[in-house]
Parts: sequence; C-alpha cells; structure tokens
Amino acid sequence: RRILLINGPNLNLLGRREPHIYGPATLADVEALARDQASSLGVELQTFQSNHEGAIVDRIQEAAGWGPRTRSDAAVDHHGAAPLTKPSAIVINPGALTHTSVAIRDALLAVDIPFVEVHVSNVHAREPFRKQSYLSDKAEAIVCGMGVYGYTAAIEFAARYLKTVEP
Ligand code: DQA
Repeated sequence: RRILLINGPNLNLLGRREPHIYGPATLADVEALARDQASSLGVELQTFQSNHEGAIVDRIQEAAGWGPRTRSDAAVDHHGAAPLTKPSAIVINPGALTHTSVAIRDALLAVDIPFVEVHVSNVHAREPFRKQSYLSDKAEAIVCGMGVYGYTAAIEFAARYLKTVEP
C-alpha cells in the first residue's frame, strides 16, 4: 500500500507563515512525522509540494502513470504491468487552490484514486471564500482545524481505509 501526500501553494512556508493560524511545525517536520507514521502502519509514503497548480496536476497524473514525466511508466503500463509508483490513496492539502482549482478536481477524478482533503486551519471559521472547496464533495474524508495533527489523522484514516478496500 502506498499513500501520496501532496501539499499546495505556501505550505512550504509552514512554521514561518501566519504561525498563529498554522502553528510552529515546518513542512519538513510534517513530512518526517508522516514518513515515520506510514512506516509503522506498513504503508509507503511519497511526498510532493508545489506552489504551482499545473505541477500538482502533473504529479496527480503521474500517480496513475499518465503524467508527462512518466512516459516510460506509461509504456510499461501499455505492456500490461501496473505503473510502478501508483499510490492507493492521496492525502492532499491544496492550500488556496482548494477554493479555485477545477483542474486539480478534474485530475483527481481522472486518476480515480481515493483522496482525503486536509486543512491545517478551520477553514469554516475564517473568510467566507474559504468555505468553498472544489474537492470536498469527492473526498473520502475531510480534516480541518486540527493543526498539523490533521495530516496524522488523515494518514491514519487513509491507511485504515486502504485495509478495507485492499485487505
Ligand atoms: C489551508 C487553508 C486555505 O484556505 C489556505 O489558502 C491555505 C492553507 C489550510 O491548511 O488551512 O493555504 O489549506
């Protein structure tokens, strides 16, 4: 089993960015904790962060062996083998792209990999535009307002979820 953790724009600034909202932990802290957690759950973890919408779309496509950077995987796939890197679940904090990106929604629907949407802050207690998400109605689960613990909760859930669908 493999989980892909994706973080969108400005999440590379965790720990430095509005610490009263997002807390003191850095993205490196979050990813290191997630990697340890995943290995104790017997799950492999891949991580990706980008400030660019298109790069996130590329990474999601690549997860299914379709991305522009995985033509060799696609060729392997064409001959019958599964793409080597395909995760069985995605945990994604799309940052501000949550509220704007039809392209990320479409990419997640295209690859048909179950995903959990994570927000460090409680998006419902902030500006009204943060209540709108292009992903929530397609997510297996949504975590918000738990601080960076939300990533831990999401990975725990995703690992349990995968055991039920891939026993
Ligand atoms: C966020 C919430 C978004 O509204 C915001 O644009 C972010 C981070 C969160 O983790 O709380 O960049 O996704």
